[in-house]
Amino acid sequence: MLRRTILKQRQPSKSCLVIPKYTYSSFKTAVETAEKLISPQSTTTTTKFQDPFSIVSHEMSNLAKSIANLIGSGHPTLNRVSSYYFEAEGKNVRPLIVLILSKALSKIPKSERNRIIIDEFDVTEQEHIKGTPKYGQESIAGNSVDDSLSPLNILHGINPRIILDPLSKPMDKLPEMDKLNGILPKQRRLAEIVEMIHTASLLHDDVIDLSDSRRGRPSGNIAFTNKMAVLAGDFLLGRASVAIARLRNPEVIELLSTTIANLVEGEFMQLKNTVLSEKDNTIENDGQIKNIPEATGKVPTEKHEYRVNEQDIVDHETNVQAAFEYYLHKTYLKTASLMSKSCRAAAVLSGAQDPIIENCYQFGRNLGLCFQIVDDMLDYTSSDSAFGKPSQADLKLGLATAPILFAWKQEPKLGDLIARKFKETGDVEIARRAVEKYNGLEKTREMATNYCMAALKNLRSLPESDARSALELLTNSVLTRSK
Ligand code: FPP
Ligand code: MG
Repeated sequence: MLRRTILKQRQPSKSCLVIPKYTYSSFKTAVETAEKLISPQSTTTTTKFQDPFSIVSHEMSNLAKSIANLIGSGHPTLNRVSSYYFEAEGKNVRPLIVLILSKALSKIPKSERNRIIIDEFDVTEQEHIKGTPKYGQESIAGNSVDDSLSPLNILHGINPRIILDPLSKPMDKLPEMDKLNGILPKQRRLAEIVEMIHTASLLHDDVIDLSDSRRGRPSGNIAFTNKMAVLAGDFLLGRASVAIARLRNPEVIELLSTTIANLVEGEFMQLKNTVLSEKDNTIENDGQIKNIPEATGKVPTEKHEYRVNEQDIVDHETNVQAAFEYYLHKTYLKTASLMSKSCRAAAVLSGAQDPIIENCYQFGRNLGLCFQIVDDMLDYTSSDSAFGKPSQADLKLGLATAPILFAWKQEPKLGDLIARKFKETGDVEIARRAVEKYNGLEKTREMATNYCMAALKNLRSLPESDARSALELLTNSVLTRSK
């Protein structure tokens, strides 16, 4: 019902706000544009800038195939739904970052990568090398990172302890390409896992957001129904969890598991999309306000850290500041957590020391915040066809992102519209005009630029290399991208 309303309300693309200062181009063109934007400070050596795609093209071209190997199910329709988003060309920015960062980390001399023993083994050969006893007679799955995690007969109830013998056999061949490229097999697997988690979250997100398109095609919920899209997302997470466990690194397992929880926390913050008041125990569902059941007290529940007493928020400035804090926290959980923790995981797997690990985490965090803030800006400026998904959807979904928060700072009356989630006739248009009038998009871009600069600074902790230059380029291109 609500979806239909949203579709009906969608403005034709010509009504998009246009910021003439910036040219919007494809991600690839954005990379080229970014090349020109790179600060002279980072171009002082003979290192040539690389197209970020080409530096890990081998791994990137195999990404979808490797993921397909990981997610295979014996159920053909489940296979179809869970691989649906991998068929269309996505930005793949998360695995791209993990792979290039891994390559950049490999340039640190091994003598300085002694935080842990560098784990150069493939995900399937390590236990054999450590002499772990075999469980099964022969290995059906798991001779290489490319092998399926679960043979089809798992679906028919055969004891996985016998069938899955992924840890007992050495690999036939060592991953030569990985060795040449400096990317460890487990870092390559990490890139795949990150894309699987991200894709699972998109399948769920499109159900929650009542989306009708993604990557230029009908979204999963439209193509297959809500039920199948949700289950396929759950299935991807299940498969990703096995792959995470097989990295056999407790720190990395913890990091990646936390990202899944963070994604859900971020989405919950977005559902409420406001600083919670003590009295606010309601949630909107399909256009109706629903009461959330009171806690019985039998299970201890922590109060939300943003929950405030009505009287705590007194002046407009404090109110706006709290809203920005909430927005940035939500943005971290929803987008930057996966990027920051996967960058940290790549550094942990490389054996790098603590200061490098911390910089890699901060790089992912700053880049992730920049990425989502730009996304929120593009939601105001792009047309549906250029974006590959419905644009200008945030206001219609009642979401107050950076552009409108900047306008609200200047125009306190907008607080009423934000509070009622732009539900009254004309609210969306008033909000759009206010964003234009108070330069909300320019201020949002400035905010994103600051995070971009901070990410570039984090990268300087890594030795200079083509891979580092490629990461700098990619970081800049996040600012200039059009989708
Ligand atoms: C896209 O946001 C959505 C996310 C970045 C995360 C969504 C997270 C969940 C639905 C929680 C469940 C998580 C898992 C791992 C199953 P957007 O709506 O702003 O972007 P869009 O325009 O691309 O839809
Ligand atoms: Mg969405």
